[in-house]
Amino acid sequence: MQDKEDRGIFNMEKQNIVIGGAWPYANNSLHLGHLAGLISGDVLARYHRLKGDNVMYVSGTDCHGTPITQRAKKEGKTPKEICEYYDEEFRRTFEKMNFSYTLYSKTDTEYHAEKVKEIFKKLYDNGYIYEKIEPQAYCTKCNKFLQDRDIQITCPECGNITKADQCDVCTHVPTVEELVDGVCLECGTKAIQKDNKNLYFALSKFQEEIEKNTNRNKSKWRSNAQNETEKYLKQGLIDRAVTRDLDWGIDIPLPNYEDKKMYVWIDAVLGYLTDTMKVCEENGTSWEEFWKEGHNNKIYMVHGKDNIVFHSIILNALLAGLKENFHLVDVIVSTEYLNINDEKISKSKGNGITALEMLDKYNSDSLRFHIINNGPEKKDTNFTIEGFETTHNSEILNKFGNLVNRTLRFKGLEQLEVAKMNEDVKKEIEKTYKEVAIAIEDLEFKLASDKVMQLVEYANKYYDEKQPWVLKKENIEEFNNTIYTCANIIANLSNLFEPFMPEACGKIRNYLKLKNPKWNYVEITSNIDLTNIEPLFTRIS
Ligand code: MF3
Ligand code: ZN
Repeated sequence: MQDKEDRGIFNMEKQNIVIGGAWPYANNSLHLGHLAGLISGDVLARYHRLKGDNVMYVSGTDCHGTPITQRAKKEGKTPKEICEYYDEEFRRTFEKMNFSYTLYSKTDTEYHAEKVKEIFKKLYDNGYIYEKIEPQAYCTKCNKFLQDRDIQITCPECGNITKADQCDVCTHVPTVEELVDGVCLECGTKAIQKDNKNLYFALSKFQEEIEKNTNRNKSKWRSNAQNETEKYLKQGLIDRAVTRDLDWGIDIPLPNYEDKKMYVWIDAVLGYLTDTMKVCEENGTSWEEFWKEGHNNKIYMVHGKDNIVFHSIILNALLAGLKENFHLVDVIVSTEYLNINDEKISKSKGNGITALEMLDKYNSDSLRFHIINNGPEKKDTNFTIEGFETTHNSEILNKFGNLVNRTLRFKGLEQLEVAKMNEDVKKEIEKTYKEVAIAIEDLEFKLASDKVMQLVEYANKYYDEKQPWVLKKENIEEFNNTIYTCANIIANLSNLFEPFMPEACGKIRNYLKLKNPKWNYVEITSNIDLTNIEPLFTRIS
């Protein structure tokens, strides 16, 4: 316990918290895997707000990059049209999930582009972005340079015809020499080698700084983040091309690069910063308090395992390269994958039920609780509708919903009287606040949600032992004390469950006339009318 106190979980000092949720690509609907990867961000945001911290929870739609241009081409639309379509759909999805973003924007805005260009220019002025001319595959018919994924080769390992970034059949990654016979994927013309000019980001110069930041923080990270990041650090960081021969993306703010755009990941990871700048500009507050050293701040990044190094390495190197006393990312919150019915979610298999389809059928609290409680926190997990329905019916409804019903909808009881709170129960509630806080800050969200549900079980047991249906006839004072004690548990559950099931918690606070949720023990202080309380959940049959 002592060391937890030292970590500042229970001191009252206000922290400045940044939570960055990964920006989904605007090329396809969100599926449950996205939500399972992103839900931890909303849990953290709500928890820190309850604690009284300053929270900057930011994300947006990732509009640039080849996933979007490819989709546009396939559908005969412009990238902008594709991006607007999915951006609107993502917003509806996150709203239905009750994600409490401070700002959800998109990378296709004037504001973002301008700020990103300023940052890029600073990195160039600081000597961390430099020009390099080298031969690259080129198609003389299409008149364009080809990325590896635009080239088709016969795989030297298995003979399959494949895109040259990686063989789809045997996963062989072709070497540069193996690309010489490659043809343009689009038109079939044999590619030639032609000198191309690109800007590179000097990632190698940040080896030491990134190592230091990683070592300082990694014990808090999940093992996939530790392993992935260490793998790259061990190999030694390599400079990366940050210009691309594309016509969709952010312009390069330097002369003679008019025909190129910025590498999508540079622009995307800077979105966390540009979102913060935007919010603070509009509120007249300082974005530096969230992102610079010396402001009691903590920065979390929340995403799936394929995004780890972009956040633990690239984003941190960009921040460090600005040489302006930036605070680097502290906590990488990376999840594994969510499978559906034991299959990896894949668009071609069509097994990825979209998030909106789920949310049209079911309530978001139950979906949130289920993907937190059964999510891919440490290993790939499997989602089934049966599993989801069991969580809803047997956990949420039978335990939590039932406690609320049998207390606040007690047969014939029209008013809740302020009475005497049971002291043992009060202690149990206070213990739960501490344990759940520790679990959340340890990124043990499943454990945290289990702990709150255990308080519900404790409450139901207390209720059964007290037998208020008997007390009502035999000892009205003890009856009132029991119902009051249970109502106080419910009042506290509306704080404790707030990060997990915010909609139900809002309803409870409304019934019990509680003001804003907060992360401490609360008690009901005035009599409450119980005549129009509705059940929180309905059974799924
Ligand atoms: N668009 C990326 C993906 O879907 C994630 C980008 S996260 C950001 O994998 F940090 F770059 F924004
Ligand atoms: Zn071609």
